[in-house]
Amino acid sequence: MKNMKKLIGTVIAARDSPTPSEFKLVITEIENSIPLRKGQFIAVESADVDGMLIATVTNIMKTNRYFESAEAVKEYERSGPLTTIFPADRWEYILAEAKPMGRISPSGRLERVTFPPGPGDRVFLATPEMLLQVLGLDPSGVNLGKLLHHDVPVTLNLTRLFQKHVAILAISGAGKSYLTSVLIEELLMRKPEQGRVAVVILDVHGEYTSLATASDSTKSDFSEKTTVINGPYIQLGVPKLTSYNFASFQSQMSYVQIRELNKIIKKLRGMSGKTGKPYDLNELIGMIEQSEMNPRTKEAMMGWFYDLESTQLFGFEEHPSLKERIRVGEATIFDLREIISLRKKQIIVNYLINSLFNLRKRGEIPPFVFILEEAHQFCPEGPAISKGIIETIAREGRKFYASLVLISQRPVRLSTTVLSQLNSQIYLRITNPYDLKLIGQSSEMVDKASLDTITTLNVGEALIVGNAVSHPIFVKIRNRYSPSPQISMSLEEIAKKYEGKSP
Ligand SMILES: Nc1ncnc2c1ncn2[C@@H]1O[C@H](COP(=O)(O)OP(=O)(O)OP(=O)(O)O)[C@@H](O)[C@H]1O
Ligand SMILES: [Mg+2]
Repeated sequence: MKNMKKLIGTVIAARDSPTPSEFKLVITEIENSIPLRKGQFIAVESADVDGMLIATVTNIMKTNRYFESAEAVKEYERSGPLTTIFPADRWEYILAEAKPMGRISPSGRLERVTFPPGPGDRVFLATPEMLLQVLGLDPSGVNLGKLLHHDVPVTLNLTRLFQKHVAILAISGAGKSYLTSVLIEELLMRKPEQGRVAVVILDVHGEYTSLATASDSTKSDFSEKTTVINGPYIQLGVPKLTSYNFASFQSQMSYVQIRELNKIIKKLRGMSGKTGKPYDLNELIGMIEQSEMNPRTKEAMMGWFYDLESTQLFGFEEHPSLKERIRVGEATIFDLREIISLRKKQIIVNYLINSLFNLRKRGEIPPFVFILEEAHQFCPEGPAISKGIIETIAREGRKFYASLVLISQRPVRLSTTVLSQLNSQIYLRITNPYDLKLIGQSSEMVDKASLDTITTLNVGEALIVGNAVSHPIFVKIRNRYSPSPQISMSLEEIAKKYEGKSP
């Protein structure tokens, strides 16, 4: 019976409708008290529109003739509720406004409608089959939850979702990290025959490490497929770095200095090629010291390299070896919670993305999805060490199947260049007017009504727009299978612990 169309109402003739862009209907079939909700999808069978017309409910109104005159209501209610005198409740009816999305053509595609439905046309709830088709969902895609108000799983096609990168934007506490965990689970659960990717997570607060926790049930156990790399273990391999890489760490470097550095690196690489021994920053600094550069240039360069050395991020070789570590169907979590310095974190992100992108271009690692939390810290509108490479991968990544998922609570602080390249957007609750304005401007798919709804979303409810779906949809994010991160302690608990008063 699930596939049967369920009748709910009839199109009515109102003052300015129906038109190809809006129509009204009256609810005729009331089984429960709320038969229809704002945002729900409906279908109209119309003689004038070939195939089924699909629409979204944009507004719902209740009305009742008996209560239209203020004077009459007041007068009658003196002697008790109006409903005890007249059958007034029988005159209550529900009107809905709807906006056509298009029609499902006989070939199953959604096409624009240029002709309105007719008054008297019958209106049904859209069936799961219709929605799968119309919204461009893929039964073997990434299952993020259920379509709000419908019993339809939101399964996003992998290619459509990641081909042009993803933005996950919302205020703090709206459920970005939770949703991202669900997304990671889905990627890890894929079978080789469905097409798998490698997942790399830059975990600024250590929120994803619980994915590596073993569990009794196989459904919730992702520990075999997850590796956590602790921040202090990360080491950047100096022999892999070019003069341009160093210049991206140190933005004051001039073109002449980059050229000088290039010569030195060439020399070091030549020597290391002969001896088979790698080199580190100290050796590079030694070579700069011995070189015949202009003394002022030399002094500045040495200062910068001593400064880089003091970050303790650099060494003879790369830890972990990215080529060996990044594997298909597995997640690698870089847990940076112990690294406080933003500059250090940006250098790590710069190195990781750059190296992964190069490995990917050479086909030495599988297609990957790089998930970046607190993205506004790494590709802000202003300058940042990691910004250039993120912009590059945002522009060119898709050619090489290297995708970004950028998560942020401050969209307005994100680089607009990067933001414009993130073509699938997932918004959870957002309330900041500047952020909302930016979203309205940057995504033509988000209309005024959807923007208003973003401000009222509950925790775990999201709006998905862009490349991943054929039409904007609201989703109730599913529960995660893996254990949630430890719930943080209350202020009272922390305070008691500090004073040694906790049991
Ligand atoms: N879909 C969901 N179902 C159930 N609980 C959820 C859901 N989404 C979020 N939560 C809960 O809401 C709280 C906040 O979620 P989360 O940590 O994902 O927010 P956030 O957007 O990442 O916030 P921040 O910007 O501060 O990192 C968590 O306790 C989480 O368990
Ligand atoms: Mg978070």
